[in-house]
Amino acid sequence: MPLTNIEIPSRLPLYTQTEAVVFPYMLFPLYISEKEVVTFREADKYEKYAVLDFERPDDPKSELSAGRCDIGTLCRVNQIKKLDDGRYKVSLEGVTRVRILDTEPSPPITLAHCEIVREFVEKNLVSEALVQSLNALLKIALSHGKPLPDDVMKMIDYIDNPARLSDLVALYVNLPNVDLQELLETVDPLERLKKVYVHLTNEVQRMQVKNEVAGEVTKRVGKNQKEYILREQMKHIQEELGDEDPRSSDLNDLRKKIEEAGLPEDIKKIADKELKRLERINQASPEYNVSRTYLDYLAGMPWNTSTTDTLDMVRSEEILNEDHYNLKKVKERILEFLAVRSLKDNMKGPVLCFVGPPGVGKTSLGKSIARSLGRKFVRISLGGVRDEAEIRGHRRTYIGALPGRIIKELYRCGANNPIFMLDEIDKLGNDFRGDPASALLEVLDPEQNFSFNDHYLDVAFDLSKVMFITTANQLDPIPGPLKDRMEVIRLAGYSSQEKLQIAKSFIIRRELEENGLTDRGLTFSDEALEKVISDYTREAGVRGLQRTVASICRKVAKEITQQKDLRSHITPEAVAELLGPKKFYNEVAAENDRIGVVTGLAWTETGGDILFIEVTSMPGKAELILTGSLGDVMKESARAALSYIQAHADEFGIQPDAFENRTIHIHVPSGAIPKDGPSAGVTMVTALVSLLTGKPARRSVAMTGEITLTGRVLAIGGLKEKVLAAHRAGVSTIVAPERNRDDLEDIPENVRADLEFIFVNEAAQALSVAL
Ligand SMILES: Nc1ncnc2c1ncn2[C@@H]1O[C@H](COP(=O)(O)OP(=O)(O)OP(=O)(O)O)[C@@H](O)[C@H]1O
Ligand SMILES: [Mg+2]
Repeated sequence: MPLTNIEIPSRLPLYTQTEAVVFPYMLFPLYISEKEVVTFREADKYEKYAVLDFERPDDPKSELSAGRCDIGTLCRVNQIKKLDDGRYKVSLEGVTRVRILDTEPSPPITLAHCEIVREFVEKNLVSEALVQSLNALLKIALSHGKPLPDDVMKMIDYIDNPARLSDLVALYVNLPNVDLQELLETVDPLERLKKVYVHLTNEVQRMQVKNEVAGEVTKRVGKNQKEYILREQMKHIQEELGDEDPRSSDLNDLRKKIEEAGLPEDIKKIADKELKRLERINQASPEYNVSRTYLDYLAGMPWNTSTTDTLDMVRSEEILNEDHYNLKKVKERILEFLAVRSLKDNMKGPVLCFVGPPGVGKTSLGKSIARSLGRKFVRISLGGVRDEAEIRGHRRTYIGALPGRIIKELYRCGANNPIFMLDEIDKLGNDFRGDPASALLEVLDPEQNFSFNDHYLDVAFDLSKVMFITTANQLDPIPGPLKDRMEVIRLAGYSSQEKLQIAKSFIIRRELEENGLTDRGLTFSDEALEKVISDYTREAGVRGLQRTVASICRKVAKEITQQKDLRSHITPEAVAELLGPKKFYNEVAAENDRIGVVTGLAWTETGGDILFIEVTSMPGKAELILTGSLGDVMKESARAALSYIQAHADEFGIQPDAFENRTIHIHVPSGAIPKDGPSAGVTMVTALVSLLTGKPARRSVAMTGEITLTGRVLAIGGLKEKVLAAHRAGVSTIVAPERNRDDLEDIPENVRADLEFIFVNEAAQALSVAL
């Protein structure tokens, strides 16, 4: 079916441009200059026809060649009108596609020789289906808000000719000119219809996405708007009701707090500045809380707040004695401090360091010192602290930043002169997050700590009024510079006698109260307590004793509630009945004397202990085997002991061939516990000589002392702990270095009375005692 059956002149004015592609049946205004309008004026001579052609721009990505296109549009020139601005408006009406065969200049215009492109459409199922689909798609596009004039819609409903339909729809798909020209050049109507369908589908998809995004945005905007309106309404309601805006009341509180805190002038300035800043911050922003918390700390720190010391020496001494038995040295040191304090008002706080085994009362002493001075007590445990920021805080620029623990505790305690206990200072860790020990240096140095700088607070705080007390089980792990700033006070373990006293005067009273037995008149016999101390506990401190007494009290309480026979007096038999079989045995008394086994004394973190050094020999290479988790120092002292004996073999009555082809093995149980230190030297010499001479060593003789290669005995540390351990274990004689004789003073009288002490200068002297 031929669509276009008009006749046209063989030559027509040609207008080539880059602005537009015109389709048949399309009305199109062209705005051009005076010079260009000539082409259309000439149209009068050609039955009002002109040919409009598109010049394809240069596009490296496109396969199509740039320049004038072969297919153009035959247009009827309906009107030419001069506009006010000097341009011309040319109204064109697209008529049909033409193929431009040739051009020739005919100044001032160009003429084109063209032929009409005749389009044939066969109506069949495919074309019908395509027309229907396109129609449906158009409706969808419309529903997504595609602007299509009503009459176009109506027209589309009527048109069932694919050629016309495709041209009409092409006009309404937003396509660049290049694509429009391509559609113009697609002369097969069905082919063109398919292309238009694809373009329209793409556009519909684009519109869908656009609508979804737009929907999301409006939803969000809507929510914010709603919140805003609600908030405004709430403000209004609050005003009506006479309620205050919570934000302004919050700020007022804060302002009042800052005013009343009596801050030093420079701090006040900083606080005021921060408060001004806070007023400008939106309350909902996280910044608000950061700033508010900071101001809280600033205003709440005890800049000038101190408690008044009770400077009553007599009363203070009474309090110290009320809480703790003995511990003379510590109590004396506290009273000295009090004495100086009463003479000098602004004395710097000393830093005491209590070192001793667990359960000897280090922590509880701190509390009682605070009580006797009438100061507040603050305690932090440094065990496992690895991060410097725990001491010194985080800079406020970090999210969730807080002050370090020193400042935090002072804030909480509300006074700038508490007793501040830094517990377990020997358990400080350090890793990539910095070294907390070096942060503590500043805290504990009286020369520096009047201006302690916490990263969070960012202004110096004066710590010089604080009295720091640190505690540790061992002195060795504490870094040297830190140790240097502290006054070390050693608390050795307690003897059985002392423990008995502590139990009688403190523990029992405390535990009866804890377990609701105060009014029951329950009493403990001394023998019962002694049994608890020797058979159910083995420790330097009294924590185990306290636990065991507590256990007895609980069992008695249980019996009372069960209405069994009411116990009012705890005897050794009652202890056995309540606690079951004893937990510890006297290793020394229980065993016979043996060859090559000697009792030694060791000093450990948990106080003193006894250990047995065992030596044996067997045929083999001449070598020395050492086992029992021994440290390097201990191994070396074993070698020294062996060399000394080899060198003096004849003096000890050892056969010269005793070392030939024999392997000597020294073992120190318990094998799993690491041991180190030089103080087992004398013990090893004795064990070796006992083995090599075949004389059994007396088990009840315990010895300690470092030896030199020439057999001299050097001083050792921790004699008190060692002696107490020996006493607990039932040793009768102690061999110790002559140079430790002065340490005897520290050992309780009753322990000294039970033991025989032999002080030696030479290893040989020890041998004569033990073998
Ligand atoms: N001399 C004493 N007089 C009265 N009670 C004591 C005495 N020594 C220790 N105690 C009591 O023993 C218990 C344990 O003491 P504390 O907790 O102070 O031990 P510690 O030395 O801090 O041990 P650790 O090193 O394990 O922290 C406390 O209840 C304490 O009151
Ligand atoms: Mg403690």
